[in-house]
Amino acid sequence: MTSVKLSNADPVSLEVDALVLGITEDLTLPSVVPAATRSLLHDILETLGAKGKRGEITKVPSGGLAIAPLIVTVGLGENAEPDAEQTRRIAAAAAKALDGTRSALIHLGEATPERIEATATGVLLGAYRFTAFQGAGTKASPKAVATVHVSGNPANKADAAALQRAKIVAEAVNAARDLVNTPPSALPPEELAHAAIDAVQQLPVTVEVWDEDHLAEDDFGGILAVGQGSANPPRLIRMEYAPKKAKGTLALVGKGVTFDSGGLSLKPPKAMETMKCDMSGAAAVICAVTAIARLGLKVNVVGWIPTVENMPGGHAQRPGDVITIYGGRTVEVLNTDAEGRLILADALVRAAEEEPDLIVDAATLTGAAVVALGDRTSGVMANGDDVRVAVWESSQRAGEVMWHLPIPEESRGTLDSHVADIKNIGDGKGGMLSAAAFLREFVPAERRWAHLDIAGPAFNEGAPYGYTPKGGTGAAVRTFIQLAEDLAAGRLD
Ligand code: BES
Ligand code: MN
Ligand code: ZN
Repeated sequence: MTSVKLSNADPVSLEVDALVLGITEDLTLPSVVPAATRSLLHDILETLGAKGKRGEITKVPSGGLAIAPLIVTVGLGENAEPDAEQTRRIAAAAAKALDGTRSALIHLGEATPERIEATATGVLLGAYRFTAFQGAGTKASPKAVATVHVSGNPANKADAAALQRAKIVAEAVNAARDLVNTPPSALPPEELAHAAIDAVQQLPVTVEVWDEDHLAEDDFGGILAVGQGSANPPRLIRMEYAPKKAKGTLALVGKGVTFDSGGLSLKPPKAMETMKCDMSGAAAVICAVTAIARLGLKVNVVGWIPTVENMPGGHAQRPGDVITIYGGRTVEVLNTDAEGRLILADALVRAAEEEPDLIVDAATLTGAAVVALGDRTSGVMANGDDVRVAVWESSQRAGEVMWHLPIPEESRGTLDSHVADIKNIGDGKGGMLSAAAFLREFVPAERRWAHLDIAGPAFNEGAPYGYTPKGGTGAAVRTFIQLAEDLAAGRLD
């Protein structure tokens, strides 16, 4: 894993393998570089045909212009002052260009805390790779850059705090990516519970785990019904961070389906290939709670993770079964592939019992979310306009792409059942919305609740882009951390 540090050394005289400098579209270099060197480099870049387009990488042997043998320029784009998201992407492009180097200094412009944070976040997220399961047959590829010095003053409190926040947040996102990328055989529900316990070792977070017997004793009928088709028993995980002088309580709920075969309503093979990602909401909760505790935020956070493997074994639930959710409401299960809402219903009822100020769940809940919003935008739905807007605003501050959706009256109507209180599928139209309508039934109307459908952004099947790798992306982690900060700061009142 790449490590980042602050350095206020003169870039051209620092002993590193590579010096990374931001350039504008007129090939202007940062003013920390001596004027004569700047003008020489400008001419070299022009000769090489550099354009300074955002994220464009040009490598130049320093030829004595700097102690570092290699100068890497990265285009800042038309705006010499890129915003935080643009900066994260630029820094990620630079980090990838540094593969195989040991050390580098990156200077994109005047070192403000905002720029330090965005640069370090981009470097750490961009340098991510998942190698845990590479075996003897793996071709050696260049390692991610080991150490990156980010321009900034280590003695300045604001600079140091910005770097520290970037590290904690990026490490949480990368840890969530690891959990999502781990093959489902290696991460059944009981292992996911162990991962939650391991993640918060040394931190003031308590973890409670319901095993299958305890789940049965407490009547968690949704989790048990989905879990009963698998040889790997289900779990419910509760993580609690309760610092002194907390400003309120945030409940985070994450869908933890460690593998979604669809159950007896079996998915076709193609649709199953990526279904190890169906615990991305759970990964986001585990890693966000960890980060919130590491940051020492003054807010109570309770993480709830219902986790199951959805399999079609001999004990599997059948289409037509009626199950009883925690709290007593009954559900007619007509499609066993609409399983996420069943386990989330148990967890939402249980989470609301503790009367938190805000409940936010994240779930890879519907293929319909991918149809509606594509694979880079999450859907935000809620039981009130104000809470939906507030949660969306937090997602924007965090730099995650999300958009608003309604929970229309007719979506709820399609869930009416003749034999139970509610059905687990609607009429097939607006599937993301009827899933949200189902969840809303299990949250008391007076309790503020928002739902994030992260089915698209949680897993990147395409090529890497910006700071997003192939595979698990760590979606919702940054929004969850931002929500805790915003609640602590009174921005969610
Ligand atoms: N885990 C899936 C949703 C999903 C699809 C996540 C694609 C990520 C990528 C969920 O459990 C599911 O199977 N949903 C069904 C619901 C339907 C049966 C009402 C779906 O979307 O097809
Ligand atoms: Mn499913
Ligand atoms: Zn699922």
